Parts: sequence; C-alpha cells; structure tokens
Amino acid sequence: MVVRSGVSGSVHHSMQLPLEHPAHTLADSAYLRACRRADADHTPVWFQRQAGRSLPEYRALRGEGSILDAIADPDLAAEITLQPVRRYGVDAAILFSDIVVPAAAVGFGIDVVPGVGPVAPEPFRGRADLERLRPLDPEGDTAYVLETVRILARELSIPLIGFAGAPFTIASYLIEGRPSREHALTKSLMHGDPVLWHDLMERIADMAIASLTSQVLAGASAVQLFDSWAGALAPRDYQEFVLPHSRRVFEAVAPLDVPRAHFGVGTGELLGLMADAGPEVVGVDWRVPLDEARRRTGHRVALQGNLDPAVCLGDWPTVERQVRQILTDAGPEPGHIFNLGHGVLPATDPAILEQVVALVHDEGGRGAGAPT
Ligand code: CP3
Repeated sequence: MVVRSGVSGSVHHSMQLPLEHPAHTLADSAYLRACRRADADHTPVWFQRQAGRSLPEYRALRGEGSILDAIADPDLAAEITLQPVRRYGVDAAILFSDIVVPAAAVGFGIDVVPGVGPVAPEPFRGRADLERLRPLDPEGDTAYVLETVRILARELSIPLIGFAGAPFTIASYLIEGRPSREHALTKSLMHGDPVLWHDLMERIADMAIASLTSQVLAGASAVQLFDSWAGALAPRDYQEFVLPHSRRVFEAVAPLDVPRAHFGVGTGELLGLMADAGPEVVGVDWRVPLDEARRRTGHRVALQGNLDPAVCLGDWPTVERQVRQILTDAGPEPGHIFNLGHGVLPATDPAILEQVVALVHDEGGRGAGAPT
C-alpha cells in the first residue's frame, strides 16, 4: 500500500513542468517517493555506474573508441541506459553520459581515456584559461544529450536521473589534467589564488546549472550532482571554497521541483555540509553506516547508499549479509534509496546485482507504512 501523505509542499515558486512530464506521471514511483521521504511500498534501488563494463551487452555494443563518441549517439546512449534497467529491474535509470561532457562540449579540450578516466592535454593553468570555459548552450552544444533524454522519457516507465559534475570535482579534472589522488595542483590554486579559484568554480557551476536544467526540461525526473572527490578536503576548506558553489547549483535548479541528490566518496566528515548545500538526497559511501549518516545529516535528507562495490565481487552469502545490514541501518524512517557507495566495478558479476535488487525489493521498507 502506498500512503499518499507526507510529501511536503515546496516553498519556492515552481517552474511548472508540463503535466505529462515524467516527474508528474511517475510521482508515485518508489524512487521519487523515497527522495521526498514519503513512504513507499518497497525500498527503491539503483546502482551508480549501472551501465558499463560489468555488462556483457555493454561491452558488445560499445566496442573501442572514446566514450564521448558513444554519448554523442542518442540511439546508442539511450540503449546503453536501458540495458541495466532491463537486466536488473532497478527503480531508476541514469542517463548514459559523463561528467566531463559539458567542458568537452564548450571546447576546453578533455577526453575520457579507457582505463584512465578524464584527461586534459592542456590543463587549466591561469586566468587566460577561463576563456576556454565559455557558457554552455545545452540545445546547441549538447543537443545529442537532450535527444537521448527525450528518447528515454518516451521509453521508460521509471524515473530518469539526469546529472552533472559538481564544481570541485570538475575543477580537479581541468586543473590536474587527469585523475589524481592528492589533488595537489587543485588545492594549490584554491589556496594560492582564491579569486581565480572562485571565478573558475563559478564558470563550472554555471555549466552545471545549464546542463541540469536542460536535462530536466527534456524529461529527467531527478538530478544528481556528483562531487566524487570532495572527500579530499578538510571541512573548513570545503565550506569556504566549495559549498557556496554547489549550493548555488542546487538553488538554481530548485524551481524545477524535482529531487536533487548530492554524492561524493570519502565524505563522512562532510555529510552535514553536503546536506547544507540544499539537496533532498545525500549519497553516502560505505565508510559511514546509514544510522550514523542520518545523525550527521540531522534527519533532513533522504539517504542513498551504501554497499561497498568491492563486496559485490564476493560470494552471495557475504553480499546478502551486508545488504541486510544496510537495510537495518537505514531503519524504518522513510527516505532510503539503496545503492552502492560508489560505482559498479567492471569485474562485478551482473547476477549478484540482480540478486541484490530482488532482496532489497523483498525486504526493504518493511515496517515503514507497509500493512502488517
Ligand atoms: O550508469 C551510469 O552511472 C552511467 C553514466 C555515468 C558515466 N560516468 C559513464 C561512464 C556517470 C553518472 C558518470 C559520471 C562520472 N564520470 C563520474 C562521477 C561518478 C563517479 O564515478 O564518482 C566521474 C568521476 C566520471 C569520470 C570518469 N569517467 C571516470 C573516472 C571514468 C573511468 C575510466 C575508466 O575507464 O576506468 C569514466 C569513464 C566512464 N564513464 C565509463 C562509463 C560507463 C567506463 C568506460 C568506458 O566505457 O569507456
């Protein structure tokens, strides 16, 4: 039974999406209800990086070549988005794209190298490089992304999650020129030239706002802002150099009135600040149990997570024990979206993830509005 009370009204003026928009037609889906911390008849589940190399059907379709070329082909990108939906029966789809797409589309000069990640041959080094980050025109620069979203809005009967990279994580890729563990160059710019830092963060935030807004208008029913590497920062530095920019992104898309999620890795000490940025949902990695994450976020947001992706490389009894523990930690309070603490690892057996979905659907959400 779905209880229809408990969804709080919005306090801002909404930018009224049309009645036929999936955000309205799927408003009672388990995923969208859980995002708004309303009771749902089962705990919804999806997996970060659910599309990708763990799926044989993905490897068969993708072949070689840059992932950016696959993203630029709407029929292909829509099909890749649908693959995990068909196989796993997840409660949400996530657009097949990448966080570096907007920066690549405005011509910054960045590609995604297989086995490495985003690589920028000429990284961001000084004020003159701001010119390489002109404002994003989503309909012109990333028309293919919006076409993919439109195809998916027609095909899907579950919500589609749109997304963007958060300013800090994108800045790190632009400044380091490749994935980095220490983020040393990024932190040097942040502390050494705060004026330029904030100008850079503003440009990236503007791109995220334009991109997220366009994805929702094209048919996405929720958005997630990925600040994957924010966990590298001390809370005070996060608060001064990152939080205002992420908050501006969330505020700018608030009038669309779709759930907004925020996620990072190793962000245990930042969970409260990430909730302060304004999302309805905070993603939690496996380092902090969900009952503790509820305390750290002050019961203000729904939580998404938090199975260790590496656990999924083990046998089913181990995975099952951990899934049950996470459901217990999430407790009876509504507002839990089951997920991994980070992306699916390529070596994962898809059969394990199928079993995870079945178990979460069978066991999750009991006692929270379910008939006894
Ligand atoms: O199911 C999904 O989640 C699909 C969409 C998606 C991709 N990238 C596709 C992708 C999403 C949401 C992303 C976001 C993304 N991209 C993030 C944020 C999430 C996170 O992982 O923290 C980040 C940091 C990136 C940057 C990026 N893109 C990395 C680090 C890599 C891995 C590089 C590698 O090959 O090991 C990518 C490539 C990438 N993006 C793949 C996929 C399916 C795999 C590679 C491929 O098929 O070529």
